[in-house]
Amino acid sequence: MNIEWERLHAEAVAAMAHAYVPYSGYPVGAAGLASDGTIYSGCNVENSAYGVALCAECGMISDFVKGGGTHLVAFAAVNGNEDPVVPCGRCRQLLFEHGGHELQVAMPGGIMPMSSVLPDGFGPQDLLKVPTATFKEVTHD
Ligand code: THU
Repeated sequence: MNIEWERLHAEAVAAMAHAYVPYSGYPVGAAGLASDGTIYSGCNVENSAYGVALCAECGMISDFVKGGGTHLVAFAAVNGNEDPVVPCGRCRQLLFEHGGHELQVAMPGGIMPMSSVLPDGFGPQDLLKVPTATFKEVTHD
């Protein structure tokens, strides 16, 4: 699939403009490209109870799931300089759930596969290794 990185970056910048960041002053915008070509996005949303701040990736993943997104193929996040932001550890896990090892991530040093951004990530397949796990594989038919 051809990935239009400039468009993904532009969607992340547009989302970043909506960030609610009175506590850190550090706006972030995130954009994810789904396998059907749809782009989903989100911004960080902070809170006076600092610890419950939502990263931009959380908003993007919520937009993706709510919108019926199938599989993520590419991801980009930007800061207030419109430069790439590395996803935090928790958000790497969120991205891995929906993009797997092949998800292409725009990092400050260039495009990297998720297998490098989150090596040996814990995912749905790990749950299936235990007979007592109640997880059933999700299909998008
Ligand atoms: N932030 C994100 O939105 N995504 C990341 O992956 C890194 C951090 C936000 C959280 C907080 O609102 C601000 O950046 C400063 O940490």
